[in-house]
Amino acid sequence: MGLVWWRLEMAAPAELEESLLWKLPLLGVTRVALQHPPEAPEQRQLLAWLPESDWPADQRQELERALAPLGEPFQVALPQVHWRRQADEDWSLSWKSHWRPDPVGERLLVLPAWLEVPPEQAGRLVIRIDPGSAFGTGSHPTTRLCLEALEALAGERTRAGRGADLEGLRVADLGCGSGILGLAALRLRAASVAAADTDPLAERATRQNAALNGLAPSALAVTTGSAEALLALLGGRPAELLLCNILAPVIEALIPWFGQLLSPGGVGLLSGLLVDQAPGLERDLAAAGWRVEGRVEQDRWGLLRIRSASDVA
Ligand SMILES: C[S@@+](CC[C@H](N)C(=O)[O-])C[C@H]1O[C@@H](n2cnc3c(N)ncnc32)[C@H](O)[C@@H]1O
Repeated sequence: MGLVWWRLEMAAPAELEESLLWKLPLLGVTRVALQHPPEAPEQRQLLAWLPESDWPADQRQELERALAPLGEPFQVALPQVHWRRQADEDWSLSWKSHWRPDPVGERLLVLPAWLEVPPEQAGRLVIRIDPGSAFGTGSHPTTRLCLEALEALAGERTRAGRGADLEGLRVADLGCGSGILGLAALRLRAASVAAADTDPLAERATRQNAALNGLAPSALAVTTGSAEALLALLGGRPAELLLCNILAPVIEALIPWFGQLLSPGGVGLLSGLLVDQAPGLERDLAAAGWRVEGRVEQDRWGLLRIRSASDVA
């Protein structure tokens, strides 16, 4: 008799997606997927798998109670949660079956740890990820925005004769989750990555994913903590590229650290914001001396590319 699971199912409105994907691992729920019918990408549904033995009825109710406040900042109620009991042998319903090799942009491929590179994707730069562990499977629009922006930046540098891709750049990854953005930066030839996340599970996941990608700890250093811990990991020396995909209010609170984390002339890629949160964040960034030199959107989520206002592009 294999393991028995509770399968959680609920609608995932765009406003709540990121908070749910961030909060669930903190509550011990690490096997999470988002899916949508092929013809209706906006009808996103959240699925999560919880071992039945660890999650009796009172624990599941407690979980629902812990998730309910996530809607408050957006003034939406948490959609109803449905539970289905499911045997492990039912492979077609299992969480692993929801992942496919996932091409991102023109050059990257996010590959679940247990799959092989499909021959038709053989030319892509592979980022192997164990999606069970922390936020950052590549499926969320904000992660994709960051991956695409990294690729775009790499292309620009190459075309401008400033090195191949991200060659020579030291990268700071604040709120690293699974480590996916730092791993992509290294695939795009960044010199090194320093990463931090307030969630200790993310530190562990990033280490595991770095090893999965054959990277030495010297290439991708990671710590538990926020900006201060990241600065210490950088040896107090600012990076040339800052990656920060966290919720808008958290980014806002972290702005005062950007000047120490990012060198003059360096570029910051900020995501995790809803499109309608961008103007407020841009005002705060401008007031702190940052110029927004690029904006992109996907499914109501936004990414801002920033540079110090004193730099001429
Ligand atoms: C949306 S996830 C991004 C994960 C990954 N970088 C990606 O792009 O897919 C945000 C991550 O930031 C972390 N986080 C939240 N607040 C933070 C803070 N103040 N400092 C550092 N990390 C934080 C969360 O634990 C979570 O892992």
